[in-house]
Amino acid sequence: MSANTTRPEHDDLLDIQGNVVGFLKDHQRFLFIRFPDLASGQQFVAAMAAEVNNAEEIRSYNRRYSEMMKRREDPLSEPADWVNVALTAAGLELIGAPGIENFPEAFRDGMAARAQLLGDVDDSGPSNWVRTFTHGSLPVHAMVIIAADLPDLLEDRTSKVRELIQGAGVLEDVGNADEGNARPGGREHFGFKDGISQPNVDGLVTSSGGGTAIAAGEFLIGYEDQDGRVSGGAVAQPNHPTQPGDPGYPAPAPVPPVQLPAWARNGSFLVYRRLRQNVGGFQSFVAETAARLNMPPGLLAAKILGRWPSGTPLEHVPGRPPGDEAGTVDPALTERLNDFKYQPHDADGHLTPRAAHIRKANPRDSNPAGEEETRHHRLLRRGIVYGPDFHEAEPTYPPSGAPPVDQDRGLLFLCYQADIEDGFEFVQTKWINSPDFPSTGDGMDPIVSQSTADPPFPIPADPHLTTQRWVVTTGGDYLFSPSISALRALGDNRSAS
Ligand code: HEM
Repeated sequence: MSANTTRPEHDDLLDIQGNVVGFLKDHQRFLFIRFPDLASGQQFVAAMAAEVNNAEEIRSYNRRYSEMMKRREDPLSEPADWVNVALTAAGLELIGAPGIENFPEAFRDGMAARAQLLGDVDDSGPSNWVRTFTHGSLPVHAMVIIAADLPDLLEDRTSKVRELIQGAGVLEDVGNADEGNARPGGREHFGFKDGISQPNVDGLVTSSGGGTAIAAGEFLIGYEDQDGRVSGGAVAQPNHPTQPGDPGYPAPAPVPPVQLPAWARNGSFLVYRRLRQNVGGFQSFVAETAARLNMPPGLLAAKILGRWPSGTPLEHVPGRPPGDEAGTVDPALTERLNDFKYQPHDADGHLTPRAAHIRKANPRDSNPAGEEETRHHRLLRRGIVYGPDFHEAEPTYPPSGAPPVDQDRGLLFLCYQADIEDGFEFVQTKWINSPDFPSTGDGMDPIVSQSTADPPFPIPADPHLTTQRWVVTTGGDYLFSPSISALRALGDNRSAS
């Protein structure tokens, strides 16, 4: 492993777990593991060190895949399957990981303990979650991610991982594995293409149209972040002040300094969030509200998200693009799907509302927060949809509580970052859930805000519009994805003594 703190080098890429770069597989399974004791936990971690796929493998595979796509060859002629592992704070503690007491408080507490802050209340509250994770009586210690191009490969690799699990003597919560399967055209359940806008990360991953590269230290431990500070180092975090003169701009809560142990280098914090989507509720709201406002329903849905179903941004095409239903993107736009800003032409949000999902979650150059500040809060999203497709004839979701299991569908949202408070928690609480971001009265993210059942979503056609909560949290946790050398060291039973 190199000592370079500016960007990962080849040795580092062999050490970093690959899903940080992005498995991008159509079939994924998430296994939840509990360690009965220290010895079996260490044995499991040691076995996983030899099993997981590294960032270099994934990078070269993904490059070959896109070259084959460009040459119009079938990339599935070389299908692949990948594995990664991440541990909760409880898991790291149980295997005696040195310095775990220095990990950030949010991570040590876990997602359920942060429910009030995140807005995970009533239907989204942990008492209604389908996964117990850290708050349960049987806490989750590790999560294994298995990903494959083909269902058969997923089964084969799962069998191999299950042999390792049994060999180590750790326990899998078998009935509770999560399964994700991509939908045609890469669309999530509301019908929009997902996975378009991803940050370009210096030395790690190049995303199409990702724009200026973001410093590796925003996503990995041990590298300089956008301010030139080494992530995981002993600094008071975050240091991004409220911008003077920007009323309503949310100041981050002060967080005590952290000093992560040396083994944390090349690791990354992983947020796992199981989000259920009420597709029927979303569609009915869009149809009824669009009729009342005398606007095309497709336009209202696109205003809620910020893109058309094909992924074409409203910033490029304000009226529905021809053929968009078929998921085809105008060839002139394929390279520009992520190449847009909001200022100054759309400062007031007449094209993309200021509270549209993609604008809340990444305000780009919107002022406030401004481009520079926004770069501190980018996420490497690695989610996948789960559950059956929606059928119009199916019963509506109950007003509260869980729908029948065969109607449970949504997104297994995963994202990697170097700091959960500055990453996922900041985006969810200071931007998405805040009715006063970017400016007072702008409204809440209609897709994914939590904390209230009827988020305000003012648009020119109806400045008093409120939407509904179609997405509820049904589980999740904060995990750490250690480097492969760290897995080896943590699995060595001498390390804990
Ligand atoms: C069921 C829940 C969700 C759905 C259906 C959803 C859907 C989408 C879609 C369709 C896009 C546009 C495609 C793209 O740019 O990749 C998008 C973008 C994005 N989403 Fe979500 N999302 C969900 C949850 C979340 C959550 C929980 C977060 C973060 C806390 C989030 C953050 C983002 C970000 C950062 C972008 C990219 C915005 C940009 O750079 O322009 N999403 N989402």
